[in-house]
Amino acid sequence: MARCAWRRAELEMAPPVLTVAQHGAVGAVALNNPPVNALSHPLRLALLDALSNLYADPAVQAIAVWCEGRTFIAGADIREFGKPALLPDLPDVVEFLDRAPKPVVAAIHGTALGGGLELALACHFRIAAADAKLGLPEVTLGLLPGAGGTQRLPRLIGVRASLEMIIGGVPVPAHQALSLGLVDGVFEGDAKAAALAFAERAIAEKLPVRRVSELCARLDEPLVFEEYEEKLAREWRGFLAPFRCLRAVRAAVELPFDEGLKRERQLFSELMASSESKAQRHAFFAEREVAKVPGLPENTPARPVRSAAVVGEGATAREVAQCFADAQLPVTVLAETADALDRCLYAIREHYTSGVARGQWSRAEADVRLALIRPALSYEELASADILIEAGAEELDAKREVFARLDKVGKPSAIFATSAGSVDVDALAAATRRPEAVVAMHFASPPDRKKLLENVRGGSTGADVFATVMKLGKTLGKVAVPVRGSVAERLLARSSREAYLLLEEGASREELDRAFQEFGFRQAPFASLGLAAVDAGSPQPQELGVRRGKISADEILERCIYAVINEAALALEGGVVARPLDVDLIWIHGHDFPVYRGGPLFFADQVGLRTIYDAILEYQRRFGGQHWSPAPLLERLVEEGRGFYAQAR
Ligand code: CAA
Repeated sequence: MARCAWRRAELEMAPPVLTVAQHGAVGAVALNNPPVNALSHPLRLALLDALSNLYADPAVQAIAVWCEGRTFIAGADIREFGKPALLPDLPDVVEFLDRAPKPVVAAIHGTALGGGLELALACHFRIAAADAKLGLPEVTLGLLPGAGGTQRLPRLIGVRASLEMIIGGVPVPAHQALSLGLVDGVFEGDAKAAALAFAERAIAEKLPVRRVSELCARLDEPLVFEEYEEKLAREWRGFLAPFRCLRAVRAAVELPFDEGLKRERQLFSELMASSESKAQRHAFFAEREVAKVPGLPENTPARPVRSAAVVGEGATAREVAQCFADAQLPVTVLAETADALDRCLYAIREHYTSGVARGQWSRAEADVRLALIRPALSYEELASADILIEAGAEELDAKREVFARLDKVGKPSAIFATSAGSVDVDALAAATRRPEAVVAMHFASPPDRKKLLENVRGGSTGADVFATVMKLGKTLGKVAVPVRGSVAERLLARSSREAYLLLEEGASREELDRAFQEFGFRQAPFASLGLAAVDAGSPQPQELGVRRGKISADEILERCIYAVINEAALALEGGVVARPLDVDLIWIHGHDFPVYRGGPLFFADQVGLRTIYDAILEYQRRFGGQHWSPAPLLERLVEEGRGFYAQAR
């Protein structure tokens, strides 16, 4: 390929991201671009160069591609998104691979995601390690597979299965990929050995080049697109990408391959420029960045956590115990009395049984989880647990007593946590002889639907202890956010108070729900609270001189969301939370803020802080300054013309 010659100089400057070798008549290409072999620009250049040499070499009769390190290619390099395109782009490389004049096999281990799977789809054969996973998760970034994935996948596995993979975004395990026809074989062990063996077989058996692009995408079920349209309208309101994914797959059926590719490209570019995708990509990066705790060195050693204990018998204790069992970690549940313990275990069994009925997990999986939960009636039975979590006592004094007892039985390396978010961690720490071992882990409820875990660091919490609970959050499948006190509860209280006042001023419950749903919430964040009980100490609209009347949806949203933004600015300024991204994740994963709006502070930047500031001043004029005073941080950012993240517009 001509473009490869003029890129050679650039290539020599690039780090060694792949190696090429010859094994007999097999050209062997090993990609090595840690941590996840993302298809960054240097890798694309190197791959194109390596392939063009192998295509031209008459001694090479087949090509084997695999990856070094922990995984096959995890996708396009998302750090390049939103920046000027660097050629060759991913579709260039994928199409070049498709046109290979000799058989190419890809051996997949770990995860083949996004552009990684698209690249594998352009190979003529694919094999996968038995524990590998293959998927097209672009929809979760507000995108669609933009390197031929929407055109090749339906040609290989059919329309319905493709829609499930592309719109669902959930990777499939290797054995399922085999039964779908997505891979040609499953191997055990080393990807390199498997790739070379398959390529040698292709040569020996003279296997022909089989281009997926030359297959036909048949529409076996004529109404499948209509069915999906209805499903999307029901389940994906507000999102853009699932609807564009559907259109792209439709193009695979209705258009010749090259035309379909063009349509895919056009839809991809549209999504890439959309505010929805920008917000979803922001959330994706925030979810990775959040693990880097300010002030906590990245190499801080974490203590091993192989088992846990939970003290309590109510819903929180049950839910926390279930989180550990769901993550395959043994957990002991301690209750005060045999009756209470029985009730708790009964509720846990009910939870897993209803999950089986809903198809959430199989009976066998439920039994495995249940077997990991061990009942206990004495503190001594908790002695071997790596982390002991208090999840029941109501009062601070009762909690302190539990902590003192845990301290007596816990082994020297044990960590002591409370599941309460707003409790004074230092007061609990003072009840033990090892305050450095004390921390809070506040799970958003219900934890099987909400991924937020607020890890609250006390004044004396040890660095290694905090590193441990942050890492543990990931093991439990949570988005763990470091805080100095529960921000989720604080923000919820602020928006609930506003909702309460809106009701008092004449808005109906339905109007509130509708406004929030239109904005993109599945339900208003305070829906689970009894609003009459919210903030009994709030000033009454009479007191405030407010007349009851019709309230617009805009005002409902402004007051409930701007109040949260202002409160978040106060929390940031007070050091309760360190970064705007922490706030965004707290509200997305704790209270269902629509991810395609990026979280309240990302959203605030889109609206413009000046607009929000002015609105707050207007509410201050109407309702007084007790609850409507712009946070000093907000005021400062407005004066400086900045946003929470970037320059304000
Ligand atoms: N590009 C660049 N960097 C990536 C990346 C990608 N596609 N995927 C992961 N990384 C980085 C992460 O940012 C992280 O970096 P730091 O260590 O510097 O923070 C590192 O790789 C490890 O990531 P995780 O902490 O997430 O590691 P994990 O083992 O828990 O998970 C993973 C690994 C399953 C691959 C997960 O990272 C993941 O899901 N990645 C995203 C995959 C994806 O969405 N791919 C599709 C991209 S879009 C595309 O490919 C098609 C297109 O046409 C544009």
